Amino acid sequence: MGATGQVGWELHRCLSSLGQIYVANRNRIDLTKPDSIRNVIRELKPNVILNAAAYTAVDNAEKESQLAHTVNAIAPGILAEESHRLNTLLIHYSTDYVFQGEHASPYTEQDIVNPMGEYGKSKLAGEQAIQAVGGRYLILRTAWVYGLRGKNFLLTMQRLAKERSEIKVVNDQIGAPTWSRMIAQATTQILAQLHSPLYQDNIEGLSGIYHLTCAGQTNWYEFAKAIIAYAEKQPHILPITTADYPTPAQRPAYSVLSNVKLTQTLGITLPDWERALALCLA
Ligand SMILES: NC(=O)c1ccc[n+]([C@@H]2O[C@H](COP(=O)([O-])OP(=O)(O)OC[C@H]3O[C@@H](n4cnc5c(N)ncnc54)[C@H](OP(=O)(O)O)[C@@H]3O)[C@@H](O)[C@H]2O)c1
Repeated sequence: MGATGQVGWELHRCLSSLGQIYVANRNRIDLTKPDSIRNVIRELKPNVILNAAAYTAVDNAEKESQLAHTVNAIAPGILAEESHRLNTLLIHYSTDYVFQGEHASPYTEQDIVNPMGEYGKSKLAGEQAIQAVGGRYLILRTAWVYGLRGKNFLLTMQRLAKERSEIKVVNDQIGAPTWSRMIAQATTQILAQLHSPLYQDNIEGLSGIYHLTCAGQTNWYEFAKAIIAYAEKQPHILPITTADYPTPAQRPAYSVLSNVKLTQTLGITLPDWERALALCLA
């Protein structure tokens, strides 16, 4: 699900090497319609279910909280139930916005969650719905996703660079920009590993939440400067504070995620965000 989105599109591309893929876009599975979820999964009986679909409009979620909750919390619970019935693996994506952002060092999977906005609350409720069902599942929390398709910070900066001589960007929110392709490649690697004899008997034991982001950290202003360095036209980038740029949803001031569990458990490490950006723009 979500193959038209940033992560889903890259997943579709990467996963083809592992086996037969069935893409269930909104016209097949509408996550606001529980019956469409149940019917398609019962008909297909997949070995693995990947849910890259979500309500991702962070600011709009403040006024569409019911829709965000339906897509991000209720639907993942139904996916988990159906997955559990078939004893298949569910891979679901979540977000750094489940954290409040008061830390000064990377958040681990054990750290206390406290989302600041409706989007984060709905994603957290989705995690909890999956955990309540149990079975075989991986919840991969990622962050600051960008790519060459869809709606994201990279494409916005590239567009603004063509249109403006000056761009103001907040410099007091810290995170780890993560290229959607890196998420898809890491997911493919995880799946390949889980099908190896080493892990096959213990997939349930591996169930849980994993942080999956590019390494390192930065702020949006520095990220913008790094993007513009590759652009043909180089507008002036001005740092501003979050207070200078009020948005309907509050965002965590710090949401860097520790990837130690992913590395120690599954041996997977993503490149530094600057290296990933260079690869993306190469
Ligand atoms: N974007 C970020 O910065 C970010 C950060 C942290 C975590 N994440 C998480 O990463 C995952 C992937 O995010 P993304 O950035 O790739 O998302 P995205 O580009 O916004 O794509 C969202 C996808 O969800 C689908 N979708 C939305 N509502 C649906 C519905 N009712 N029924 C069926 N499909 C529906 C969309 O389909 P249509 O094309 O039909 O609308 C689209 O394919 C999500 O779980 C998100 O919460 C994202």
